[in-house]
Amino acid sequence: MDAPQDAADQGDGGVPRLHRGIPEGAEQQVAALYWEAFGRKLGSALGPPEKGRVFLASHLHHDRGITALDGVGRVVGVAGYDLAGRALNGGSARDVLSGYGPLRGLPRLALLVLLTRNPAEGELVMDGICVAAAHRGAGIGGLLLREIAAVAAENACSRIRLDVIDVNPRAKALYERHGFSAVRTQQTPFLRTLMGFGAVTTMHRAVTTDDLAEGTPR
Ligand SMILES: CC(C)(COP(=O)(O)OP(=O)(O)OC[C@H]1O[C@@H](n2cnc3c(N)ncnc32)[C@H](O)[C@@H]1OP(=O)(O)O)[C@@H](O)C(=O)NCCC(=O)NCCS
Repeated sequence: MDAPQDAADQGDGGVPRLHRGIPEGAEQQVAALYWEAFGRKLGSALGPPEKGRVFLASHLHHDRGITALDGVGRVVGVAGYDLAGRALNGGSARDVLSGYGPLRGLPRLALLVLLTRNPAEGELVMDGICVAAAHRGAGIGGLLLREIAAVAAENACSRIRLDVIDVNPRAKALYERHGFSAVRTQQTPFLRTLMGFGAVTTMHRAVTTDDLAEGTPR
């Protein structure tokens, strides 16, 4: 895709452009970005941070992410998704047990199961969206969401689903501006100490044929 017209020049690397997929060699950048955004939530399951980043980088499904790249090809944003049961973040139960050991791996697996959201028929489920802290508020998150909607439309999905935690009202506001509506909130007080949030809101957005025109297939 050509440089997006509505994205501000980032100054230190040019105008961000979107790329379908995780570029080969960018795995560690993606994992670092992901950990910067979700480390608080993932720490108890995949920490310590260095190990968690390595685990994420080693088990990415390259075809299940959209990246925003700056002018010199650095990843400044990523949006993951789960389509037909394959998500950006891979890593099976066996990978967790072999990476963390059977004794330490088992409780970690239990926590990861709590975070797992399988797509229903005709549904694309978001698997994390994050923009590097220095690049936030410049429209990159919105561009990624529009591209996700295009992917959903191209794959004949009728709905996009995502979860947002109660301590992230700005992300929730962003989703609402992009057509998502809250459908239910699950209270999770037992996760407040462990993962830093006490409730999870599920949001839906219908996919329409207009979404086909929004993104640029490549
Ligand atoms: C949420 C996020 C992906 C938005 O990306 P972005 O490129 O800043 O988004 P845009 O520039 O298109 O839109 C900005 C809007 O994003 C939301 N936002 C959420 N957190 C933000 C932050 N830390 N800084 C700036 N905007 C933020 C706001 O609604 C903001 O609108 P505002 O002008 O009313 O404040 C990004 O802030 C981020 O990576 N946050 C950390 C990870 C995260 O919370 N992911 C969502 C998990 S459900």
